[in-house]
Amino acid sequence: MEEILKYAEQKNLIVSKEAISLLQKQDNWASILDELEKDGQLFVEPHILEKKLTRTKMSQTKPSIEIRKSSFNAQAKDRAPEFRIMTEYDVTGQSHCEGKVDDFLRLFRSKFKLLSNMLKERHNLSPTDISSLKAIPKNENVDIIGMVNKKWTTKNNHIAYEIEDLEAKCIVLIMERDKELMKKGERVLEDNVVGIKGAKIGDDFIIIKEIYWPDLPIGSPRSIQDEVYSGGTSDFHIGSNTYLEKPVAKWLKFLNGEGLTEKQKDKVGKLQYLFVNGDNVSGVGVYPGQFDELVIKDLYKQYEAFEDVMLQIPEYIQIFICPGQHDAVRRAEPQPAIPKEFMPRLYAQRNFHFISSPSWVETEGLKNLIYHGASIHDLISNVSFLEMDKPHEGMIELLKKRDLMPKYGGRNPYVPESKDYMVIKEVPDLVWIGDMHHNGYGTYRGTTVINGGTWEAQTDFQKKIGHHPTPGVFPMVNLKTRQISETYFMRNNLQREIDAEKINETEGGKA
Ligand SMILES: [Fe+2]
Repeated sequence: MEEILKYAEQKNLIVSKEAISLLQKQDNWASILDELEKDGQLFVEPHILEKKLTRTKMSQTKPSIEIRKSSFNAQAKDRAPEFRIMTEYDVTGQSHCEGKVDDFLRLFRSKFKLLSNMLKERHNLSPTDISSLKAIPKNENVDIIGMVNKKWTTKNNHIAYEIEDLEAKCIVLIMERDKELMKKGERVLEDNVVGIKGAKIGDDFIIIKEIYWPDLPIGSPRSIQDEVYSGGTSDFHIGSNTYLEKPVAKWLKFLNGEGLTEKQKDKVGKLQYLFVNGDNVSGVGVYPGQFDELVIKDLYKQYEAFEDVMLQIPEYIQIFICPGQHDAVRRAEPQPAIPKEFMPRLYAQRNFHFISSPSWVETEGLKNLIYHGASIHDLISNVSFLEMDKPHEGMIELLKKRDLMPKYGGRNPYVPESKDYMVIKEVPDLVWIGDMHHNGYGTYRGTTVINGGTWEAQTDFQKKIGHHPTPGVFPMVNLKTRQISETYFMRNNLQREIDAEKINETEGGKA
């Protein structure tokens, strides 16, 4: 055991007790650890090891599917795509983290600097450093920017935060009688960076009058001249016994223009970009007892089945695939792209692109932020006003915070990379998310958020927690009008335009 621990330490791997007992049963434990190091893994847990062990069974089956050449006269076929994967925000091949205390410190400092610079651009905030508080007379108004260290409720039901900047810290308080602010205060979580307007009560004590987020600038949706569509889908979970094969087959026919009216054909023929948002397969050993829920128990074979689906999409559609927590990469974010060994047939095609989660892709001059969504999940479990069946609202909350890692130490782990991939450094035009197995759309200050839903029926776990997913719904966005439309594949290709006003409900959500 000591030998394993020592070896893991040299590789900068943090191995849990349970993982050590699993490793002890493997003769090749050292080479497994070598591989995990190469994968950029930081924490070694039993589910990660199990995944690694099943990967050694390389599948021998031959490709069973023929690549689909588009069978109808799609407009997008003759139109040159215009896109750029913004590699500066993609962690694939760039993970150099060693997981040392210094790395975490650097990450938090970098996050503070990036977000506080955004806050400083707000004209209604003139912040002073927390260390200069002493020089300000008592009861004077004061603005500060800080990261929340601690949050608690006092015995008189006020909300208190300890916040700090790069040099000093202080206590800030929302008075219980200030009901509006109390509501806002619920959204402020540990590790959030906020701007505060308040009154100085003591040298390190402020009563809050207003809270500001780094936020998106106010703006309206940008559009393009040509009528081109982008679509989003997510959470296929291929390999699980709840994967919905038949609706997926219908979706593929739809993308190929089969059995559609001329009007429907015209529209789907303009689909040029598709974002596939992770949990592409169900994975193996992702949680205890998962093995019994799998109909494909080999990770490679799960990806083969996923490739079979993807290869039936018309070849003129540019497809961007990111990982989720069920895919064959590290669970911790930022997650690098799924490697070639799992999808060699897709890697061989020119229209498939493999990106990290989160990542950014520019299409037709519009910026797309693509993210599987683990931190939205974490956020929803932390605040009462967000719900799993409105995933776009959770994402909008992250846009206000300009941060995809608003709270460190939740259910989802993060790797302190040398570069910050989680702060939302630019203003996205469109945000594509998944993870919640629930479609959802919203526009906030010119940015449209789309959750692509799922192709997995309700699982036992979802039943237990009362979550009702929306499988078999495919959203597309018209980039000329920014109108969203959905097609339902569990209900005979029913189409629905989403009312632009309805999706704008969240516009101007103040915080
Ligand atoms: Fe999922």
